[in-house]
Amino acid sequence: MKILGIETSCDETAAAVVEDGRKVLSNAIYSQIAKHRPYGGVVPEIASRNHVAKLPGIIDDALSAAGESYQTIDAIAVTYGPGLASSLLVGYAAAKALAQRLGKPLVGINHHEGHLHSVFMHAEAPSEEEAFPMLGLLVSGGDSSLVRRTGCYETVGRTIDDAAGEALDKAAAVLDLGYPGGPVIQRTAEGGNPEAVRFPRGLDHADRGKWIYPYDRDLCFSFSGLKTSLLTHVQNLDHEPQGGELRDIAASYQEAVADALAQRVERALARFPVKSFACAGGVSLNKVLRAKLVALAAKTGDRLLLCPPSLCTDNAAMIAGVAYEKIRLGKTGPEPVDVDPNLRLADWA
Ligand code: KG4
Repeated sequence: MKILGIETSCDETAAAVVEDGRKVLSNAIYSQIAKHRPYGGVVPEIASRNHVAKLPGIIDDALSAAGESYQTIDAIAVTYGPGLASSLLVGYAAAKALAQRLGKPLVGINHHEGHLHSVFMHAEAPSEEEAFPMLGLLVSGGDSSLVRRTGCYETVGRTIDDAAGEALDKAAAVLDLGYPGGPVIQRTAEGGNPEAVRFPRGLDHADRGKWIYPYDRDLCFSFSGLKTSLLTHVQNLDHEPQGGELRDIAASYQEAVADALAQRVERALARFPVKSFACAGGVSLNKVLRAKLVALAAKTGDRLLLCPPSLCTDNAAMIAGVAYEKIRLGKTGPEPVDVDPNLRLADWA
């Protein structure tokens, strides 16, 4: 079965054709990073206008690179949440119109489930049945969550403020390194001392404030204190950090983000028996985080599933991949009538 996937939840305009859930026949992406860079972050109206301009061409590219056509695909999968409403609407309207015109099924997909599914989209990956129960660390630009997957989803921890990707993007802005922050912090940190500055790992002080969130505190993340700590550190210097000092700050900050994430994964693995654990989303490209998770897998003996680098950041192949699983299991549910910018995994599974 060949599925055309469409993804426009944020600032990547993407379309892909995937065969039988795992074989990526094409993966076309127009990244709008250059358009948003002058503003240091994603500007929703610029994102949706670019989706309108680029999506038709990107869909054509995906079909022709796969050697397919509108007539030969079997279904259309589209992200309907979570994300920016005005961006989601462009992809959703296009997918709905195509499905109606072509008389093909339309499957609405949760963007976060796409990220979590991407760890299965390569030749050596086990089947979902072999991997479940699985603990997933989802680390994208907009979210950081720990999710337990059996057949369905249970969020067991999440960030109470910024996402890990956001923390890296904001740190890069403070250090005047550009946008997006994750890759540039990683590059700047090369050769730096990760222990030069002891940045906080979040939620270290259980005695401060009442806990009001519906998840266990020790499985949740908080990155806003880390960001403030970086700002204070830089303000307290009487000069702009450069060279070795800048490398040390970037390495220490990256270490704090990766450590905070890996620590919570370790705690969750100790609490929930799993057959595997996984990491997906843009921040899962990070080398330090990957190394920490590989070391953790060696320590616990659990199987680690990492996303192929080409599918870590936003893409439509992961959306088509999930749609295939939904169709295979007869779990597509009713076609969504609208996009849902705040869609949760629990709302959907
Ligand atoms: O998954 P993604 O494309 O966005 C959402 O779905 O929200 O991830 C984007 C995030 C950005 O915050 C970016 O800074 C981060 O992924 N990122 C990285 C790396 N490459 C991208 N973070 C750490 N290290 C990287 N190498």
